[in-house]
Amino acid sequence: MGTAGVQFDKVAEEYDFAASLLNDHSFFLSNMPLKKGTALDIGCGTGLLVHELSGHFDHVIGIDISNEMLEVARHKRRRPNTEYLKMDASELRFPHLFDFIVSRTTFHHLEDVPNVICKMKELLHPGGKIVIIDNVSEVETPPAYVYVLGAIQEFFPNCFTFGIKSAARVFRHQTSKPWLEHLAADKYLSEQAYYDLYGPLLPGCTFRRMGWAMGIVWENKPIG
Ligand SMILES: C[S@@+](CC[C@H](N)C(=O)[O-])C[C@H]1O[C@@H](n2cnc3c(N)ncnc32)[C@H](O)[C@@H]1O
Repeated sequence: MGTAGVQFDKVAEEYDFAASLLNDHSFFLSNMPLKKGTALDIGCGTGLLVHELSGHFDHVIGIDISNEMLEVARHKRRRPNTEYLKMDASELRFPHLFDFIVSRTTFHHLEDVPNVICKMKELLHPGGKIVIIDNVSEVETPPAYVYVLGAIQEFFPNCFTFGIKSAARVFRHQTSKPWLEHLAADKYLSEQAYYDLYGPLLPGCTFRRMGWAMGIVWENKPIG
């Protein structure tokens, strides 16, 4: 297992608390395919997106390499039509195809993005869609103070939206040593690097810049 899995093991509970308040799934929900049989979430973390998609798809599988993140997912977000598996994205293997393959803030952890994208395309039904959201930044690894300033900036709006107690818990997570250590190891792509890398891998894909995040949508258009 790479270091990402171990790093997420350390922060699983607090990550889940913050993400359950802050994660926005609307980009995925507004780009779902017509056929809603099976969906796959790569780097599913604590299962927030799997849970959301399970209300729309017959069956949803989440894969991750962090035991603790998977443990939270299985404990909090198990439904009859959800499944959580320990699997590395670089070793994607399934005996069936999917209608929807998604991933949120995980691709910057992957060592060989072209290999993973190639496997995702092989696993997609005709008419199926791939939707990815990942961090975009003109600075490859922003320094810690950028995240601390961001956490301070978000604190007051979070107080109004979630209450002081929850906002304080989110702030403590965002400025905690293990989380900042994790972020110090992250490497993000610039906007241009997204176009250069993903454009040829997913011909005809669309990009949408959403602040700190880049969204990518690709449809496996049936030939003819
Ligand atoms: C920032 S978290 C995002 C979790 C979830 N997608 C969300 O949006 O809340 C990144 C996740 O990717 C997982 N991850 C990192 N490298 C991975 C890999 N090679 N294969 C599968 N999962 C991976 C981590 O364990 C972690 O749970």
